[in-house]
Amino acid sequence: MDTGMKGILLAGGSGTRLHPMTLATSKQLLPVYDKPMIYYPLSTLMLAGIRDIMIISTPDDLPQFRRLLGDGSRYGVRFSYRAQPSPDGIAQAFLIAEDWLDGAPCALALGDNLIFADHLSTLMQQAATRDSGATVFAYQVRDPERYGVVSFDAEGRASALVEKPANPASPWAVTGLYFYDARVSTFAREIRPSARGELEITDLNRIYLEEGSLQVEKLGRGCAWLDAGVPDALLQAGMFVQTIQSRQGMLVGSPAEVAFRMGFIDAGQLRVIAGEIPKTELGRVLRDIADGAQ
Ligand code: DAU
Repeated sequence: MDTGMKGILLAGGSGTRLHPMTLATSKQLLPVYDKPMIYYPLSTLMLAGIRDIMIISTPDDLPQFRRLLGDGSRYGVRFSYRAQPSPDGIAQAFLIAEDWLDGAPCALALGDNLIFADHLSTLMQQAATRDSGATVFAYQVRDPERYGVVSFDAEGRASALVEKPANPASPWAVTGLYFYDARVSTFAREIRPSARGELEITDLNRIYLEEGSLQVEKLGRGCAWLDAGVPDALLQAGMFVQTIQSRQGMLVGSPAEVAFRMGFIDAGQLRVIAGEIPKTELGRVLRDIADGAQ
């Protein structure tokens, strides 16, 4: 399937909360168990059926992403690359990518956000095929003050969005995965830098909320959402992936597997990718998948 929607993977920032690990490399290239962090949000975008993806990172880190991911042909998708000269806010992605988007609807995934759910592909594809408005995902957390927070009215409709509120009105954090209609860059032009000097994604989402076209999907108990931006979260994400993979023998966050299951590549192409990492368990599982054993 190809929804006509484009995708942006935002993988910039300075990763200061992970220093010194991120002094010489990008946060989104650090390992989460057996894969680079960026593989996970990349897999999520591909599960939505998105095949045109722009990777945005710092001028220093962009060459490493290009080295890791190439032009996308091995996954049956197209990757473009663009630099964000300084971390001026998540919503700036839609200004940086505006000409490339060329009026297409767009999904944005933060490069340090990992989402696991057994019905993820259905959820993603529903969001990707919605004609107008925006879709975000909310997840209940113990520390909502660290995130964008959405609150709901008595009927369960989203009623307010606040970025990092000192006194959160609800425990529902907005995750780093967003789907927007064709107007997203136009709306991104309307917002102004916040007190911390950033174009806030929450301000962009609020434009959709106020016009009544923001869909907020709650992710329930059966889902896991992790953002790997601090050492504890990075380790927890790695252990989570390791637990699922070693127990079930199934992969989490493999773009090669997703490409195959989505029909972007065939078994022969999957075997080639598996053959590039012959000494790894990941390579062995990918080979089994190509052989139809899984
Ligand atoms: O993780 C979800 C949260 O992400 C949302 O709930 C918040 O509403 C949203 O503002 C964001 O909050 P964070 O405090 O986690 O944002 P942070 O500045 O850490 O940026 C998230 C990722 O995006 C991070 O990996 C770096 C990257 N980034 C960030 C900015 C501001 C960029 O590539 N460029 C940027 O300009």
